[in-house]
Amino acid sequence: MKVLIIGSGGREHAIAWKASQSSLVTELYCAPGNAGIAQYAKCVEIGAMEFEKLAAFAKKTEIDLTIVGMDDPLVGGIVDLFEREGLRVFGPRANAAILEGSKAFSKDLMKKYNIPTAAYENFDDPQEALAYLETAKLPIVLKADGLALGKGVLICNTLEEAKAGVKSIMMDKQFGEAGNRLVIEEFITGREVSVLSFVDGKTIQTMTSAQDHKRAKDGDQGLNTGGMGTFSPSPFYTQEIHQFCQEHIYQPTVDAMAAEGRPFQGIIFFGLMLTAEGPKVLEYNARFGDPEAQVVLPRMKNDMIQVMEACIDGKLDTIELEFEENAAVCVVLASDGYPLHYEKGKEIRGLDRFQGKEDYYVFHAGTKFDEKGNIVTNGGRVLGVTAKGSDLKAARANAYKAVDWIEFDNKYYRHDIGKAIDEA
Ligand code: AMP
Ligand code: GLY
Repeated sequence: MKVLIIGSGGREHAIAWKASQSSLVTELYCAPGNAGIAQYAKCVEIGAMEFEKLAAFAKKTEIDLTIVGMDDPLVGGIVDLFEREGLRVFGPRANAAILEGSKAFSKDLMKKYNIPTAAYENFDDPQEALAYLETAKLPIVLKADGLALGKGVLICNTLEEAKAGVKSIMMDKQFGEAGNRLVIEEFITGREVSVLSFVDGKTIQTMTSAQDHKRAKDGDQGLNTGGMGTFSPSPFYTQEIHQFCQEHIYQPTVDAMAAEGRPFQGIIFFGLMLTAEGPKVLEYNARFGDPEAQVVLPRMKNDMIQVMEACIDGKLDTIELEFEENAAVCVVLASDGYPLHYEKGKEIRGLDRFQGKEDYYVFHAGTKFDEKGNIVTNGGRVLGVTAKGSDLKAARANAYKAVDWIEFDNKYYRHDIGKAIDEA
């Protein structure tokens, strides 16, 4: 099979690596890809939002399967266009990707189908949102409705902060059109868990759990980022919690989408909070998490391509997902200053130290080749260093050992990825 992956981050590198392990795959392509993905795939210089060009490339190259890694093209309807062109593609259509593309939609869906989530109100009018805040309990959470690179959520401790948040999201359009609608949500507390799943429209099979670290700095300080590191599995995600989620969250979400005439085929990522009242959904994503994929896929025993094919064919019930009985930790190496201002173009040294080392992976997130053919930094999140171990503590020690193998000028990372493990 010829397989095309769309995207260019650490998640797509993990997907490309996993696809390269499949016995079904003969040729692998990635658009646009990056310097790390180029080890397994032919990188094609077409952007993830250039749907027509991507479809033309897929036709010309006789691609058998396209895997869409990123949220923007999914929400923008890339799957619909590929299907219209008769191309086989893994991922939800636009009318299902809305589960991630509109937080107001997903909150209304959860309310309608009794799926546990934080209490909320949706607003189209900033004046109404401001008036609502006057009587709201603090802290309070503001969420831009649309896609905002994982940055559209503000947790406000004071009324002044909340008012300023409404102004910046809805009036000053800090996140652009994503702020045309606003969800104002009750603040809830508890441990966070990410559960990714394969879905074929009716059947859902969840993968092993993971936990992300969204803040930029140690001790969960600093700004929200795309994710600074992950570990898998989460020791807090017990069998009992899993059973509850199966019954009240996972299958009900898939059934709700089908009942709404929006059957979901692809990955649903459940962002959960384990509250004192039980698990609640913080958010849905319509794709693998980044950097969740970097710890979940290395532990997956199945041939991922086979599972994706079963999703497209509506036969996921014939598959049994299996994961290794070990653990994995991913530490993101970023450019100092991320998520705000940072320099790019720094030469990266030490990548070769991962070669031939089983259980150690370096997934490229923002890298490219310079004119001399050296690999240089090309983004805020640069690399994801993942290591496996027999348990979480061993995996963490291995991951931090491997972090030291890599050098570049403005290398920055969190030192406390997986610290929560010690409290388990
Ligand atoms: P989201 O993009 O919806 O996952 O939100 C980003 C982060 O904001 C989450 O990972 C949580 O840490 C936090 N968050 C989101 N919603 C709430 C909430 N209702 N209460 C407390 N924290 C929240
Ligand atoms: N790591 C969180 C996300 O991919 O949205």
